[in-house]
Amino acid sequence: MDPEPRSAVDPGTLPPGGSTLVAAVVRRTEPEGLAGPLPRVAIGGPEVVFARIAPTIREGEARLRALVGSDVDVVEAVGRYLVDAGGKRLRPMLTVLGAGVVGFCGDLSGLMCVGELIHLGSLLHDDVVDGAELRRNRPAAHIVYGNAATILTGDFCLARAVLLAAEAGGHRAVTELARAVTAMAEGEVLQLQRAGNLHTTLEHYLEMVDKKSAALIAWSAAAGAYAAGDDAAADALARFGRGVGVAFQITDDVLDYAEGTGKLAGADLRERKLTLPLVHAMLRIPGLRARLEARAPTPAELPALVAEIRASGALEAALNEARARVKAALASLNALPPGPDRDSLAILGSYLVDRAT
Ligand code: IPE
Ligand code: IPE
Ligand code: MG
Ligand code: MG
Repeated sequence: MDPEPRSAVDPGTLPPGGSTLVAAVVRRTEPEGLAGPLPRVAIGGPEVVFARIAPTIREGEARLRALVGSDVDVVEAVGRYLVDAGGKRLRPMLTVLGAGVVGFCGDLSGLMCVGELIHLGSLLHDDVVDGAELRRNRPAAHIVYGNAATILTGDFCLARAVLLAAEAGGHRAVTELARAVTAMAEGEVLQLQRAGNLHTTLEHYLEMVDKKSAALIAWSAAAGAYAAGDDAAADALARFGRGVGVAFQITDDVLDYAEGTGKLAGADLRERKLTLPLVHAMLRIPGLRARLEARAPTPAELPALVAEIRASGALEAALNEARARVKAALASLNALPPGPDRDSLAILGSYLVDRAT
């Protein structure tokens, strides 16, 4: 009898957690591990990008695990809990590619981890303020470890990231990072303040999204250029990151209506957060704004409301706006030297909108 079909790569050879995207591609495309033949994947798809940078992402992964280490057991436990749950590692990917464009030759795995550490800290904080129960397919950290340990470990991640940005990226990288983190805090507060206000304007929504999500994505794309002292490339990469970052958050808001994201569907709607898909839904469903203004949906009402909004065409309308924003952002890449890293940034930017998680 034939032996059981083996998985292409022993999962034990991959670091725990790690980029869920890169791990999936490695399993699919590397039958003999990294020494195997070139991946047989469609030319030009995001899989090509993931496969190209998989070895670098793995190095960053090992570094990230070390960076959340601490003499204080609970801090390490909370940090590892979130790191080991995986995640797309989009910010490190953008840093690898942006650094490649400018030929950065310093501590790349350090620079990659800066964006992800800030992201980890912001997720720990965000799930407390949003009262989210599920993150990366696991109970959110505050459910397991409590609010105090989670918030303080979030602070630890942010501070580790700032130190690392200074060490691996230098003065410009760390000052730009401080600006991005300031914007993130403002964006999160603006969102909380405006929850339940269904007359929030589109401009206000975009301002909030730009601050809470796009600022860090822009920094991640430009980090290598900040470190290399290439101001022109830093401007182009930051503009690209800002544009795809807004689109990325629009897609995140669309995915609030989807199952299988590792987060609970309908969480934004439950909080009555005004997001772009909800703006489109209110234009399409008569009486929806008044219903939501009157009161928040109950947990029992939520699934039917999610289904109603999905059926209205609002999600596709929001995604089309995100796609248009990516298209505009891609133009910023023309100011950069051509090559495989610039091409990969374009592919990754387009993928970010049509992702499934
Ligand atoms: C979620 O970010 C929070 C936002 C800024 C939208 P990601 O969608 O990148 O989360 P992970 O890292 O893949 O879990
Ligand atoms: C989170 O935005 C942005 C930051 C963490 C700064 P969301 O609240 O939409 O992210 P998710 O949906 O919880 O991942
Ligand atoms: Mg949230
Ligand atoms: Mg969200």
